Amino acid sequence: MIGRLLIVDDEEIALHNLQHVMERAGYEVSATQNGAQAISLLGAQTFDVVLTDLRMEGVDGMDVLKKSRALQPEAEVIFITGFATAESAVQALKHGAFYYIAKPFRLDEVRKVVAEALAKVLLRRENDALRREVEHYRDGEGIVTQDADMQRLLGMAQQIAPTDCSVLITGESGTGKELFAKFVHKQSLRRDGPYTAVNCGAFSEQLLTNELFGHEKGAFTGAIALKKGLIEVASGGTLFLDEVTEMPPSMQVKLLRVLQEKEVLRVGGTRAVKCDVRILAATNRDVTEAVKNGSFREDLYFRLNVVNLNIPPLSQRKGDIPLLAQHFLLKFSARMNKPVTRISPEVLDALMGYAYPGNVRELENMIERGTAMAQGDTIELTHLPEQLQQAGNFSLRKIDGAFPTLEVQEREYIRRVLEEVKGNQTAAAQILGINRASLWRKLKAQQAEEEAPD
Ligand SMILES: Nc1ncnc2c1ncn2[C@@H]1O[C@H](COP(=O)(O)OP(=O)(O)OP(=O)(O)O)[C@@H](O)[C@H]1O
Ligand SMILES: [Mg+2]
Repeated sequence: MIGRLLIVDDEEIALHNLQHVMERAGYEVSATQNGAQAISLLGAQTFDVVLTDLRMEGVDGMDVLKKSRALQPEAEVIFITGFATAESAVQALKHGAFYYIAKPFRLDEVRKVVAEALAKVLLRRENDALRREVEHYRDGEGIVTQDADMQRLLGMAQQIAPTDCSVLITGESGTGKELFAKFVHKQSLRRDGPYTAVNCGAFSEQLLTNELFGHEKGAFTGAIALKKGLIEVASGGTLFLDEVTEMPPSMQVKLLRVLQEKEVLRVGGTRAVKCDVRILAATNRDVTEAVKNGSFREDLYFRLNVVNLNIPPLSQRKGDIPLLAQHFLLKFSARMNKPVTRISPEVLDALMGYAYPGNVRELENMIERGTAMAQGDTIELTHLPEQLQQAGNFSLRKIDGAFPTLEVQEREYIRRVLEEVKGNQTAAAQILGINRASLWRKLKAQQAEEEAPD
């Protein structure tokens, strides 16, 4: 993107010099010798960087700075002054100037400072846009996604939530299965009832039976009082059975009975107790495989799998990565009370290039670490784990023995990104760091070139 620059200097020659240099550096420049005119320009058009002389007759650089902060808080202001004193520099920075350049200056110094200011403005704008998108794409239960498959799943979850049917949620570890279970509960008519989760893989068979079904007083040594099981406790609400394929066979039969009869028999009990519970179950294992090899009952599988929500791994919805990263950044910066609000472009590249065996949870952990490590307002590459820093490394390959031109490389890169996000141009533009209109123009140009006869 071209930077829009406003230059203000009451010395005509200095002004034209700067204008010429910055235009040659590719900026879109407005120049004025007059502070008052600078202020009316600030009211009329958008600038990224304002470069202003400090000492001017009438409206001076400090006035320009204050007006700029008020009218265009996104823009960065750089002072140039021939009367540099430590005190005026401190004043300038205190009022929010980006930098303070003393005359005489070297033109390459000015160019460098302006480029840094512009990079900061663009980064902020990009992150702000991302944050707005997070808000747009985060549903009431905190599920963030812009992926079409995920949106379809959410729609389905929403639709079946008010029914009492069982749902089997499948997907790799860390994809958000439990989040979906909570979503279904919250969207259901049982939302005011209890939501209880139990991990079927975390207990011995005996303990799990005791947890889920409870026991009568005196059912076994140590059963000194009646204990209601979680199924009973969850009555009127939702019971989430995590890692359900880990449930031992004897208990699978009992669970089937609960689902069929809507009643539960406590250990040592003779009379079944009515219970009104909705069962959601999850597993990261291949259930059909477990059914085939006999470790999971087929009849229970059918009972649980009335609706199946199969959550795709993060690597299949890369367009969600920048959004989720920003979402977690908001969460952790608030929790740690740190003013970290940005993720550097290099970090975003690295995040996009990583495979995420641990899915969303792994990304979440990385951002937590990055937020904790960050010293300024931005997460940089050095704040991330080693394996990720490598994922961002650019590899240089020759094609037919020659290095590809930038144009060829760009076309190939755009094609790969589009493929990755299944043709979603909004997501692709976000990944590429350009706006949708630029992406569209690039695609048009490529298309025209491909169609042109040699
Ligand atoms: N789409 C999403 N938006 C926001 N946060 C998400 C999303 N998906 C997952 N998370 C977060 O990632 C973490 C892991 O999600 P969750 O515990 O639901 O995964 P899981 O599939 O149940 O994992 P496991 O198989 O290991 O139990 C949680 O902190 C969750 O809040
Ligand atoms: Mg889980």
